[in-house]
Amino acid sequence: MANYPIPTVEQLVDKARRVHVETFGEKGPTIAVCAPGRVNLIGEHTDYNEGLVLPMALPLVTVVVGSQISGKNVSVLTVSEVLEESKRVDFDLPTSTAPLLPGKPSWANYVKGVIQNYRAHPLPGFQAVIISSVPLGGGLSSSASLEVAFYTFLQQLCPDDLDDVAKAMSCQKAEHTFAGVPCGIMDQYVSVLGREAHALLIDCRSLEATPVPLADPSLVILITNSNVRHSLTGSEYSTRRQQCEEAATLLGKNSLRDATLEDLEAARGGINDVTYRRACHVIEEIKRTAQATVALRQEDYKQFGKLMVESHNSLRDQYEVSCKELDDLVNAVMEVTGVYGSRMTGGGFGGCTVTLLQADAVNQAKQHIMERYNGHPTFYITTPSKGARVLSL
Ligand code: ADP
Ligand code: GAL
Repeated sequence: MANYPIPTVEQLVDKARRVHVETFGEKGPTIAVCAPGRVNLIGEHTDYNEGLVLPMALPLVTVVVGSQISGKNVSVLTVSEVLEESKRVDFDLPTSTAPLLPGKPSWANYVKGVIQNYRAHPLPGFQAVIISSVPLGGGLSSSASLEVAFYTFLQQLCPDDLDDVAKAMSCQKAEHTFAGVPCGIMDQYVSVLGREAHALLIDCRSLEATPVPLADPSLVILITNSNVRHSLTGSEYSTRRQQCEEAATLLGKNSLRDATLEDLEAARGGINDVTYRRACHVIEEIKRTAQATVALRQEDYKQFGKLMVESHNSLRDQYEVSCKELDDLVNAVMEVTGVYGSRMTGGGFGGCTVTLLQADAVNQAKQHIMERYNGHPTFYITTPSKGARVLSL
């Protein structure tokens, strides 16, 4: 079965160090950092509506190793088997008259965006190697983990005075301006502030987070990568954001966080059906996230699982960001005894599902998915992990 053995951070650092020596010479790196990908347990497409989200940081991480050099040049190499573009970029650090701009290869835009938005000065030139165990484009936020890892790397070269939330926001801005994705704050936030053995309830309005314990050994969080990604992802994400903004404006609210189902019903005559359904999902999903957090605190996994399935159904029918593969994965695993709940996770249109189940049901669940799913899924058994950190070399 395609059970992905998650490499340890030490293994990733070792490989990155070897590549650094081969590429940039035998002095080797002096700095190593990492930042995790994330899985969202519930609270989907709510972050850009100032709502609630409940993600956890993963043991899947992006590692950056590197060293300072004299001058203003930057060389970055990525160790990634899947990228079809050039894996190395060389450029000069930005100045006020020559800022960095997005370009090719496109993966380097995440790096350039973080550098361009980095406020502490003067940054020295450097050479760096990136390696990641987060699947690229799989909906587990490889891009946010790259941004946050890179920011953490820059902090070692030239310390800044931003707090962790501002750090996450700076990385989010890099994604907006250099990758052109108008994402919410969830991914970067949990990649910076994730906690071992805890999910993080993030209030995307106040930008405060509350850790929620999640370390019951009888429980497993299984991620299943559908290994499909439909090209709609980018454009549909922006469309959803616009529809939510339109709904909030029609309801006379600053954001859908302030709206209730009663408000929506009262305005029904003046809202088209699509906008109505989008708003309905967001309003109910914020409520579900609050309820799911209570259920998790009470270790009421049945209730939590029920809310996960409701979330999936709403993403499928109201928000229309699921796809056949994700629906098939959820339907298949929900047939297995010992499974509490399952849903698509992340932006949608492919990527992964997240399933909460009894530990002793895992093999049966994977087996059943393999029999029922018409594709090549990859499984990750995960535990809530730490946010970005500096590593020893
Ligand atoms: P997700 O964040 O869900 O994995 P995205 O499409 O938002 O998916 O981001 C994936 C993109 O991020 C990749 O196509 C690549 O451009 C960039 N990226 C992520 N991780 C790496 C990496 N280790 N090396 C180079 N680029 C990366
Ligand atoms: C992600 C995006 C997040 C969040 C999520 C949907 O792709 O980066 O900010 O909006 O989709 O919940």
